[in-house]
Amino acid sequence: MFTMMLASLFSLALLSAHVALVIGVAAPLLTFRVTDPITGGSLECDRCPPGTFMRASCTATQKTRCATCPPGSFTELWNYIGKCLRCGVCGHNEVEKTVCTADRNCQCQCKQGYHNKYDMCVRHSECPSGQQPLTKGTPDEDTVCQICPDGSYSDTTSALQNCTLHRSCNAPGLKLVLKGSIWHDSVCTSCEELKSRDGGDYLKEIIPAFFVHHKMTLRRLRQVVHKLPSEDGKKQAGASGLNLSELHARINTWVASASANQIRQLPEILAKTGANGASERLKSKLQRIDSNLKQLCALGNEVDVLSF
Ligand SMILES: *[C@@H]1O[C@H](CO)[C@@H](O)[C@H](O)[C@H]1NC(C)=O
Ligand SMILES: *[C@@H]1O[C@H](CO)[C@@H](O)[C@H](O)[C@H]1NC(C)=O
Repeated sequence: MFTMMLASLFSLALLSAHVALVIGVAAPLLTFRVTDPITGGSLECDRCPPGTFMRASCTATQKTRCATCPPGSFTELWNYIGKCLRCGVCGHNEVEKTVCTADRNCQCQCKQGYHNKYDMCVRHSECPSGQQPLTKGTPDEDTVCQICPDGSYSDTTSALQNCTLHRSCNAPGLKLVLKGSIWHDSVCTSCEELKSRDGGDYLKEIIPAFFVHHKMTLRRLRQVVHKLPSEDGKKQAGASGLNLSELHARINTWVASASANQIRQLPEILAKTGANGASERLKSKLQRIDSNLKQLCALGNEVDVLSF
């Protein structure tokens, strides 16, 4: 019973393989029919092979005459056309993968940094900060991103760049102020440095990365820039015409020269623009820094605090 079933399964498989062969692989048509201009009867002529075209149709006494496609033209099929087809031209953001030959049109693919999507070449996606490419984009596939592996971070948007390992605060004399996350590096200090620095000074180190990671609308970012306090107490000059990279540059310039106290005002400024989530996250980073700092270099306490 079992062998019978196997046998019938086997013949079924053979049968379907046979059917697939018959249906799937259509043999090329090697001939075509013309009417004999003299007798009015039907003639069966040979077609011309790929890479050639038909110079002259066959007659009752002569075979079809074929000629090679001239440069810049091609035929891919057995044919009886009087002229080869013009070679294609690669499209926008494409490059030639293989050149046009007599029997094959040129093959195009997306140029470097682009991939095929809906028959167009579009730029490879970039991985946001906190992520890195798992597989880089190819002419046919987009970038695939993954979250930074444990112990590493990325503070840029990039299609190619990998996450970087957090710096280690294990060197002699160094203390961990803020443990690194996927979007910012670890912040270290020494007890000596700590004497002259405030929590705001340490928060400063991660603020450029903070604005890369916590994406905000252009409108909100402009409001933030507008509200940044300056040394003379005046508000920032108009930020209305600035684009994203200019706004980030403005913020980074401000951060570089801001006092610790001004830095401490950032969560409040964010809240005022309605960026409550971002405000809370920055505030919590600052609280973590402050609470770590309190315990770091206390008299006789040289043990690293654990960050949470
Ligand atoms: C990123 O990491 C992968 C896997 O370790 C490596 O093959 C690739 O070269 C790295 N890319 C860069 C830009 O360093
Ligand atoms: C932003 O504006 C500057 C100057 O107008 C320009 O050079 C830059 O390419 C712009 N950046 C983007 C991302 O549009």
